[in-house]
Amino acid sequence: MSRTGRVFSLLLVVALIMSVFALGGCATEQPAEEPTGEGTTTPASEIKLIEPGKLLVGSDTAFPPFESMNGDVAEGFDVDLMNAIGEKLGLKVEFKTEIFDTLISTLQAGGKFDVIASGMTIKPDRQELIDFTDPYYDSNQSIAMKKGSTYTGPEDLAGKKIGVQSGTTGEAWAKESIKDAQLVPFKNATDAFAALAAGNVDAVVNDLPVTTELLKQDDRGLEIVAQIPTGEQYGFGVSKDNPGLTAAINKALAELKADGTYAEIYKKWFGIEPPAE
Ligand code: ARG
Repeated sequence: MSRTGRVFSLLLVVALIMSVFALGGCATEQPAEEPTGEGTTTPASEIKLIEPGKLLVGSDTAFPPFESMNGDVAEGFDVDLMNAIGEKLGLKVEFKTEIFDTLISTLQAGGKFDVIASGMTIKPDRQELIDFTDPYYDSNQSIAMKKGSTYTGPEDLAGKKIGVQSGTTGEAWAKESIKDAQLVPFKNATDAFAALAAGNVDAVVNDLPVTTELLKQDDRGLEIVAQIPTGEQYGFGVSKDNPGLTAAINKALAELKADGTYAEIYKKWFGIEPPAE
């Protein structure tokens, strides 16, 4: 064999050995498709959880009908949906109450909860920090004032005291759309409405479905004076380090939409069929 021939065959052997290793490596990286619960084949190995077998959920549980506390039990649309997702994934679901404004940083820090379910709007600045699942609810903003107030447009609120929940899209809308607004941030929506009833703020900007729910059985003389079509979509928040969990929740969500469970939960909390996709 010529010298080039020998070098060539040596290279060939090296290449062969390397490809065998590469294949072997591939095979072990492939997660085992073991069922993690009823009716799902999501690979368990890809989902990172703080506590094995448990999905810990961070939420500001003062946001009905999405999440609120009934004694020490969380209830609402997000809670039922998250429980149904947990069932699909073979995981026990546990809600942990957190202030809305600190949900994202707490999720990023890790160790407290695996997912955010808190009527959280998917938006680009948040997507830089965390991942969101597919959207699960379409929402808009609203303005509430004392009954009998006149409201023809945001200019009527110029320079007025506007109650908002800290860190929300309602706060962002008020900041952008109301000239010289004196924003008064509250840690939750219910506190903002208490301030409105007490006359400490002139208006409250908050997600429409929640304001509708909060004012439903309210005798403090408050009303929705405007609906603001912001076209928001809620998603569940997951750490960027946990794409397996995002994928698993998306898969479960799609299954729940297909099998009618999503529609059932939607009707339970909103009294109407979910909008067509
Ligand atoms: N959708 C709004 C946002 O993402 C408000 C959400 C507030 N949620 C809550 N559970 N307090 O900013």
